[in-house]
Amino acid sequence: MRDNKDHLLLVDDEVAQLEALKEVLEADDRVIHTAQTGEQAKRLFEKLEIDLLIADLMLPGEIGGIELLELARAQETSTEVILVTGHGTVDNAIEAMKKGAYDYLTKPVDIRRLRAVTEKALEVSHMLRRQRELESALRGESGFMGIIGESPAIVRVFERIKAVAPIDSTVLITGESGTGKELVADAIHNVSRRAEGPLVKVNCSAIPESLMESELFGHEKGAFTGATDSRPGKFEQSSGGTIVLDEIGDVPLRLQPKLLRVLENSTVERLGGRGTKQLDLRVVSSTNRDLDEAVRKGEFRQDLLYRLRVVTIDLPPLRCRKEDIPRLVEYFLKRLSLQLRREIEGLSEEAMAVFMEYEWPGNIRELKHALEQMAIFSPDPILSNVPETIIKKRTFEGANLSGIPIRDLEKQAILETLKEFGGDKKQAAEALGIGLRTLYRKLEEYGEI
Ligand SMILES: Nc1ncnc2c1ncn2[C@@H]1O[C@H](COP(=O)(O)OP(=O)(O)OP(=O)(O)O)[C@@H](O)[C@H]1O
Ligand SMILES: [Mg+2]
Repeated sequence: MRDNKDHLLLVDDEVAQLEALKEVLEADDRVIHTAQTGEQAKRLFEKLEIDLLIADLMLPGEIGGIELLELARAQETSTEVILVTGHGTVDNAIEAMKKGAYDYLTKPVDIRRLRAVTEKALEVSHMLRRQRELESALRGESGFMGIIGESPAIVRVFERIKAVAPIDSTVLITGESGTGKELVADAIHNVSRRAEGPLVKVNCSAIPESLMESELFGHEKGAFTGATDSRPGKFEQSSGGTIVLDEIGDVPLRLQPKLLRVLENSTVERLGGRGTKQLDLRVVSSTNRDLDEAVRKGEFRQDLLYRLRVVTIDLPPLRCRKEDIPRLVEYFLKRLSLQLRREIEGLSEEAMAVFMEYEWPGNIRELKHALEQMAIFSPDPILSNVPETIIKKRTFEGANLSGIPIRDLEKQAILETLKEFGGDKKQAAEALGIGLRTLYRKLEEYGEI
């Protein structure tokens, strides 16, 4: 348990300088620790919860001020860092600011400035600590393994994860884009007995067809032109852990029989290899496509689909669990407060009303991005600047659309959204709740690319 005092750590190789700083900064509500070397400071830092580190940039030994700064930044702590620098090293100090130091002081240290900067840095540190405490409370209370929500629909998902994780069954995660399929895959791995083993993720839609076979199954030296060495595939790499096949619907038909064999036998044969290798596999796959439909269209093998969906976890769209919106908003705003280092309290009443009414075609990802946009563009602690795209789509509902061909509506929505995002196709696709590929296909149809 920490006390209510601020813990400061002063680091300087000159004892006189240390004593002088200490004297200036001493106060009833502060505990001042000192160190003369970077090594000593590192040990103290790791042992104590330090709120403010004031370190000389130049220290004897391996660990200098910059290294201490990096140490503080690498850990998820609320430690602020002030660096002290002699003449001629101001450039380094500026570099340090870029790396996340709160401020720097030049020698000889001006006492008034030291006091002022210390006060301010401690204020920031307090705020961050409060945020972190809130965040961890949130993490613990309203979700499961970083998946936020308490609605019956999402709690059912948690129950299924808990039920399937300990056994090695193959799981297919389905759900619209942005509903949290990747988080669920992570959770399945992390609560399983394989948590210590590797978690290997393969995005099947991002790998070109020509490379996918060797990427998944590996190859031996000389298996094809350019195969200058032997390499294990993703399946082999995941042995003992979990392999997540994302966008499984995009695995080319040609490779599906081989994939099926790996799943059935838990063995893999590298391209150009002479034997099979036994693996300890756990396969989780995910898709936002309707695979039954793909089977009907002859794009996906039925036997493979049966094999993949021994257990399915279907993620509800956000519009079916709107009661989770306030919690998600709170969670994302806490994270944004930390990232942007300012206190964001929440949404205005009007903004929350819009959020509750909106249908969120891009689901939680769209919600997260909307909040990011709002936080970046508004300095207020209470955000009210709901993005235009969301307001527009909402008012759309009231408009008289009867008799307008769906195609025309779709085209107008796509082109306007694209304009809204300054031509950024990825963001536009997300806002529209469609895949990037679909967006490209539609634009091609309209003759826009
Ligand atoms: N319940 C949740 N709690 C907190 N964050 C969430 C939740 N669901 C999704 N997110 C966040 O929303 C974003 C999208 O989630 P994720 O990548 O898991 O979606 P997905 O279903 O895999 O989407 P896609 O089909 O587009 O790949 C991520 O940043 C994720 O962390
Ligand atoms: Mg995903």
